[in-house]
Amino acid sequence: MVSAAEKIERLKKEKNAVILAHNYTLPEVQDLADLVGDSLGLSIEAARTSADVIVFCGVSFMGETAKILSPEKTVLLPEPNAHCAMAAMCTGKQLREYRASDPDCVIIGYVNSTAESKKEMDICCTSSNAVRVARSFEGKDVLLVPDMNLGAYTASETGMRIRLWNGFCPVHHGISYGQVKALKQKYPGAFIMAHPECRAEVLGLADHVGSTESMAKVAKTSEKKEFIILTEVGMKHRLEKENPEKTFHFLEHAVCTTMKMVSADSIIDSLENGTGEIFLSEDVLEGAKTPVRKMIDLS
Ligand code: 13P
Ligand code: SF4
Repeated sequence: MVSAAEKIERLKKEKNAVILAHNYTLPEVQDLADLVGDSLGLSIEAARTSADVIVFCGVSFMGETAKILSPEKTVLLPEPNAHCAMAAMCTGKQLREYRASDPDCVIIGYVNSTAESKKEMDICCTSSNAVRVARSFEGKDVLLVPDMNLGAYTASETGMRIRLWNGFCPVHHGISYGQVKALKQKYPGAFIMAHPECRAEVLGLADHVGSTESMAKVAKTSEKKEFIILTEVGMKHRLEKENPEKTFHFLEHAVCTTMKMVSADSIIDSLENGTGEIFLSEDVLEGAKTPVRKMIDLS
């Protein structure tokens, strides 16, 4: 019998497709992917790949970003209903209203946002380049949407006064100071890494704050053998695979359910039948291109 992996390999060749998977997806999906990474790394790959078809294993804003960067390519989101809860917390209409009320304010938008709202932003950022992006607007009035925790972290790192939006990631915002203190007590020697979507008091307990890709880098290069990882549990698979001699502790409730929707079967269905193809209007593609491109150019 032909395995799912063999079937996917054959379909990839037939369609000249590449499979990109976020660090939070299921282990079976990560193991099938051509590249596993964070939002920025996957966006950069989506922009430069020579494949005709990009299968994006993640949530919809990631597939949309790939389409904005490569509008001539077919971008497939195997699970079209996989959305990021935070992206829904800031709409294009809200940003248009904000812009009208304060036309001079620079709007920096986290890529965890809809394509419709990206169209209203001056520049995008991810968790790995938010600080660099913000610094390029030093001295200006800046609003960072939609994540208030990433905004507050960026403000504290840059010393800039950054206006915050009332959005958050339910998974990272749900990690409490008390839970982390308890983990720290249980594993006193562990090196703590946290995603900037966590609350400020949680970040205050961390030895390293950064994107999922930066965590993978630090885990590899650090001499430490034991880590507490304050992000979504999907990251455990990659960290353990790349560092079999090290131990990684997670908060088991930190699960992003929509990141777990993609499976080997949905990738096959998508490649065979075009399920989940991303279509964006010319207007959105045109409007969102500049902020996303500016971010890639700064990276
Ligand atoms: P990264 O860009 O660090 O991979 O994070 C994306 C994300 O959705 C975090 O919740
Ligand atoms: Fe969105 Fe949070 Fe899931 Fe990341 S972990 S995709 S920010 S809901």
